[in-house]
Amino acid sequence: MKKVGVLISGRGSNLRALIAATRIPDFPARIVLVISNIAEAGGLARATEAGIQTCCIPHHGKTREAFDREMDVQLKQAGVEIVCLAGFMRILSDWFTRQWQGRLINIHPSLLPAYKGTRVHERVIAAGEALSGASVHFVVPELDAGPVIAQGSVPVHPGDSPDVLAARVLTVEHQLYPAALRLLAEGKVRLEQGLAVFSG
Ligand code: GRF
Repeated sequence: MKKVGVLISGRGSNLRALIAATRIPDFPARIVLVISNIAEAGGLARATEAGIQTCCIPHHGKTREAFDREMDVQLKQAGVEIVCLAGFMRILSDWFTRQWQGRLINIHPSLLPAYKGTRVHERVIAAGEALSGASVHFVVPELDAGPVIAQGSVPVHPGDSPDVLAARVLTVEHQLYPAALRLLAEGKVRLEQGLAVFSG
């Protein structure tokens, strides 16, 4: 049973999906800590309701690495073995990504490597794409550039607004993130020389 820490900044719908999945008896991981950089993040309340330890670490007035080191201390104190970013709106220092290399994953609302960064749905619609989706990937120092573990796609319909498309992609995210976490926790995927290597 792997101990998981989840980093959030907002409402935490992916966190909710992870909490639900990790409650299934045969799930190979459980969430032991949720950290937010934003005190008002809705996800903190979700975690507390679920009986999970939470912690808020404000980022203001700190260097990126100093902030990351504070998170690292909390994660290690809680015995965390895998870190999931779930709507965590801070770029991580190279130091942190190296510390957690191969044990740090993120969910991004596009079919990576397409549409890295922010305002994804707006850009997907503006480009006239017929397909979008979500990706779970290992985190490397370069933003949204780590090897992909799992992807799911959805159609983009004519007339979709960014909010409508975001909601459609989110339904996939909520299936995909627990599935990818399961693969990592079971040792069926690992990061090796910059690649996601699958086994079993
Ligand atoms: C999701 O769309 C995720 O892909 C992105 O941030 C959003 C977080 O949503 N990284 P939520 O806080 O999990 O509801």
